[in-house]
Amino acid sequence: MFGRRSDRTTDHDLNAHDVFYGPVGSGKTSLARTYMEEDDLERDGVETWVIDPFLAMAECRHKVDRYVREFGEIDETLAFLLAETYSRAELIAGLGIKGFAVGDQRHDLPLISVTIADADAVLRDLRRGRAVEQVMRMSRRAGIKFRLVVLDLSLLSFGSSEVIRSSAVNGNVLACEKASA
Ligand SMILES: Nc1ncnc2c1ncn2[C@@H]1O[C@H](COP(=O)(O)OP(=O)(O)O)[C@@H](O)[C@H]1O
Ligand SMILES: [Mg+2]
Repeated sequence: MFGRRSDRTTDHDLNAHDVFYGPVGSGKTSLARTYMEEDDLERDGVETWVIDPFLAMAECRHKVDRYVREFGEIDETLAFLLAETYSRAELIAGLGIKGFAVGDQRHDLPLISVTIADADAVLRDLRRGRAVEQVMRMSRRAGIKFRLVVLDLSLLSFGSSEVIRSSAVNGNVLACEKASA
């Protein structure tokens, strides 16, 4: 599971959040992109969003459903995602469905999978962090999944939010290391 790599484990939970962490150059962005391509783009019933403030995944922009990079646009996208999360959570609760499942005909909603490249930089902003935190509190019920790329697993990497950190770390955690010289 460690090492500079772009292979992947196959025993991960597709609906849980993913965290990729490691120092600069350890391959975490490449691995996150591989997961995004194989778990989202190759699977029916998944809508793929990429938030990419420093263009780490710019080559994906035409393949995904929504690609945003400027911070103003990122703020709008997170506000939209939060509104969507509320309306989905209400709808799903109204249908008496306990948890979201991809392909459930009763709600017929896609999973929204949101990859945030350089998530530590995105979440550092208090308002952005709060928006992601609110979505995360409802994400399991609303069919939202996050894939976060961060330097390490410290609280600071998650906008100092224990909610974001613990939700993320409870999902699939992928450590990347530079190959030893
Ligand atoms: N498994 C791998 N084998 C060889 N090179 C890799 C591998 N994964 C990533 N790289 C290369 O290493 C560099 C850093 O990868 P990147 O995913 O940007 O790392 P990080 O996001 O951790 O800084 C890139 O040039 C990338 O193409
Ligand atoms: Mg990177």
